[in-house]
Amino acid sequence: MSDVIIDFQDHILSITMNRPLKKNALTAAMYSTMAEALEMAETDMSVRVIIFQGVDGIFTSGNDLADFLGNPVRGTDTPVSRFLFALARSTVPMIAAVDGPAVGIGTTMLLHCDMVIAADTSLFMMPFTNLGLLPENGSSYLLPKIMGHTKASELILTGRAFTAEEALSYGVINEVCKADELVTITAKWAALLASKPPSAMRKSKALMKTDMPVVIDRIRIEMEQFSEALVSPEAKEALTAFMEKRPPDFSKF
Ligand code: COA
Repeated sequence: MSDVIIDFQDHILSITMNRPLKKNALTAAMYSTMAEALEMAETDMSVRVIIFQGVDGIFTSGNDLADFLGNPVRGTDTPVSRFLFALARSTVPMIAAVDGPAVGIGTTMLLHCDMVIAADTSLFMMPFTNLGLLPENGSSYLLPKIMGHTKASELILTGRAFTAEEALSYGVINEVCKADELVTITAKWAALLASKPPSAMRKSKALMKTDMPVVIDRIRIEMEQFSEALVSPEAKEALTAFMEKRPPDFSKF
């Protein structure tokens, strides 16, 4: 089975992250598949809604940390950057259905979605600083915009996990549900959005995102700094510690 499953039915394009043995950690190949699907949807008016989801009670544990360590070269022309730009530029209404861990990009991708439904078993986290890394995916701009500077700072500077109820109160998600209701509730919202006039929907979304060029610009700036951080001694210690299943030691920095 593929690590990303793309399905298209009744005008709804579902993108399912499907690498449960690694908690749906995202590899370069997975970013490429997802980017291609988003780019295709942008030019195909028969796509009226996009759903992002995980499997087995896991949304995604974020970027594959082994990839970060073993293949740290990044830039603005990589599978991950292609995905981030396609996500930020998309005018197709996007719904995320979250269950279980939504870590790193698993949380920041939600800031680009138009509706987010989360099971009460979800756990959100942006542990960038704990990994010697920096916020990505436009989150240094979008988080303060959505929840205000102080809450955004708390989440980014501590990297602490937060629950679906907290995410609801911060304005990151629309609705909390039971895990066994997630598929049905998401399908209901998707069907509603897909039943509406597609051009009006895309244009309405675009009007609410007229700061898209600002977001794209911020993604580029973050990427430059993220690439540098990725090869820093701090990140090396954090990533090696994760692989060795031990706590990191930042006392020497
Ligand atoms: N990259 C690579 N491998 C990952 C991963 C990631 N982001 N997240 C989990 N895995 C792997 C683990 O190494 C483990 O592999 P193994 O079975 O070969 O040892 C497997 O997935 C299961 O993970 P485990 O940590 O045992 O699951 P858990 O249920 O105890 O915890 C998480 C789940 C998501 C909380 C935890 O795995 C985690 O914190 N992952 C890292 C998240 C992260 O920092 N992402 C990057 C953000 S920038």
